[in-house]
Amino acid sequence: MTQQLSKHRHISFTAHYTGYIWYQMGISHPALATKKGKTLAALVHPIESWAEKYVGGSMRTTLKQRHSMLDSHLKKLIEQHPDLQVLEIACGLSPRGWWFRQHYPEISYRELDLPDMAATKQAALQQIESHSDDVLSLDLFTGAFASAFQIFDQKRPLVIISEGLINYFEKPLLQQLIQAIAHYGQDFQTLHYLTDIYPEPTQNKLATIIWNSSRLLKWMSRSAFSFHFKTPAEVEHFFQEAGFHQVEVLQPKQFFEHTALENKQQHLGDLVWMIQASNQ
Ligand SMILES: C[S@@+](CC[C@H](N)C(=O)[O-])C[C@H]1O[C@@H](n2cnc3c(N)ncnc32)[C@H](O)[C@@H]1O
Repeated sequence: MTQQLSKHRHISFTAHYTGYIWYQMGISHPALATKKGKTLAALVHPIESWAEKYVGGSMRTTLKQRHSMLDSHLKKLIEQHPDLQVLEIACGLSPRGWWFRQHYPEISYRELDLPDMAATKQAALQQIESHSDDVLSLDLFTGAFASAFQIFDQKRPLVIISEGLINYFEKPLLQQLIQAIAHYGQDFQTLHYLTDIYPEPTQNKLATIIWNSSRLLKWMSRSAFSFHFKTPAEVEHFFQEAGFHQVEVLQPKQFFEHTALENKQQHLGDLVWMIQASNQ
């Protein structure tokens, strides 16, 4: 039977790129590093090095920041809830699921992506995990998304994770996605949502270059890639509107350099932030 798919799918070359960067960073497995990813990483390398020198950060630097902030928060959640269940949506070729299943065998960790990427990921995982569950194969913007929640136990806490996903959609569609997560997860013992987000680069001295690069990404991925928020307060309000009661934005300068935030309107100048939301 052909699977129902929405028109809100961006092409997944970026997942091959990030998948290869995770491998280069030494946190992944060769089975999750594709030839396509290697070629893309080699192509982008000179631009990334230039940006690191002149812009003070690159795509690559933000990948490291977002990935380690998300990992660190997931570890904290597991410490609080040893019976945690995890659903990583738009998992691409990220090593996170594989790593957490190895290190925390007591949690239940499932991954989800569009059919082609889900099949690629599953084939890779089958080479490196002895009992890997199927990677869920579905489109987040179809009714099928509800079925992904049904495989978990509502009496246990659930965390949804997304990384490198939410800037690819226009704001109304993003609201729809976050509302769906809050709604489908409402009967779980507790529901958490961890995600990264690229805010509007208002503080950076080379903001125009970053804007132009984002337009290139939008065109290349045939998506609606955009920046939605300028302040943590805007993010909090947006997530609360979607049904999450507690929302916290974490900026890399707070996380890595312990810079104190003066107020919720303060954008510290980082290119990527992390959001932790819960329905408690
Ligand atoms: C930029 S990649 C990020 C992959 C991974 N999370 C990472 O950080 O390496 C975005 C992922 O979103 C997936 N995706 C895009 N649209 C989707 C949709 N409508 N439903 C499910 N997944 C989608 C793509 O297939 C791709 O794997």
